[in-house]
Amino acid sequence: MFRSTPDITSANFCFFRFLHVLVCNAAVFALPWSLTKDHLETTFQVNHLGHFYLVQLLQDLLCRSAPARVVVVSSESHRFTDINDSSGKLDLSLLSPSKEEYWAMLAYNRSKLCNILFSNELHCRLSPHGVTSNAVHPGNMMYSSIHHNWWLYTLLFTLARPFTKSMVSDQLMLCLYIIHFNILGMKQQKS
Ligand SMILES: NC(=O)c1ccc[n+]([C@@H]2O[C@H](COP(=O)([O-])OP(=O)(O)OC[C@H]3O[C@@H](n4cnc5c(N)ncnc54)[C@H](OP(=O)(O)O)[C@@H]3O)[C@@H](O)[C@H]2O)c1
Repeated sequence: MFRSTPDITSANFCFFRFLHVLVCNAAVFALPWSLTKDHLETTFQVNHLGHFYLVQLLQDLLCRSAPARVVVVSSESHRFTDINDSSGKLDLSLLSPSKEEYWAMLAYNRSKLCNILFSNELHCRLSPHGVTSNAVHPGNMMYSSIHHNWWLYTLLFTLARPFTKSMVSDQLMLCLYIIHFNILGMKQQKS
């Protein structure tokens, strides 16, 4: 993903003068342990570092495009983890654990916590330049392709399917959310 990110930015974004909305949505879930070519645990790199790197590369374009907005798709499950050690200090080894210390659900939760911390910090740094950032939770156990790495999650998502939001309503909500805040931004600019 790291290697493909500069390609994405140079190939797709050099044609655009403005970028008003960036949605950081890509994620993996319940992967068996693996390392990327950068020697980092895959869930951590795909779910958090990839977005972090992409935003760094697009930061100038976003600032030039103000009002602009970054939406980071996180999850409620960020609540069920921590990235601090027992003395309350950030423990970097928890973010990209070894095979022995890896648990897929925990890796996902930690990456989603990183999404929120990143979004909050990005907002602090870029909002003075007219670029806001928000982290969102799209809904619980929505039937998508995210569970396909493990049959157990596929079963759970299938059982929950009649009682949860559909992906269509989720994507509609996200579009309405973006439109709402863009209109708000335009109104604020005019006044
Ligand atoms: N579904 C839920 O219940 C739920 C709940 C809470 C939060 N979320 C969050 O919602 C977001 C969307 O998830 P979803 O449920 O819609 O799952 P999804 O259908 O599997 O979507 C995940 C997306 O990430 C992309 N992706 C995965 N690995 C990638 C990589 N290495 N490089 C580039 N793109 C990659 C996938 O692209 P390809 O299709 O090309 O593989 C896919 O478009 C995620 O951030 C997830 O954490 C989902």
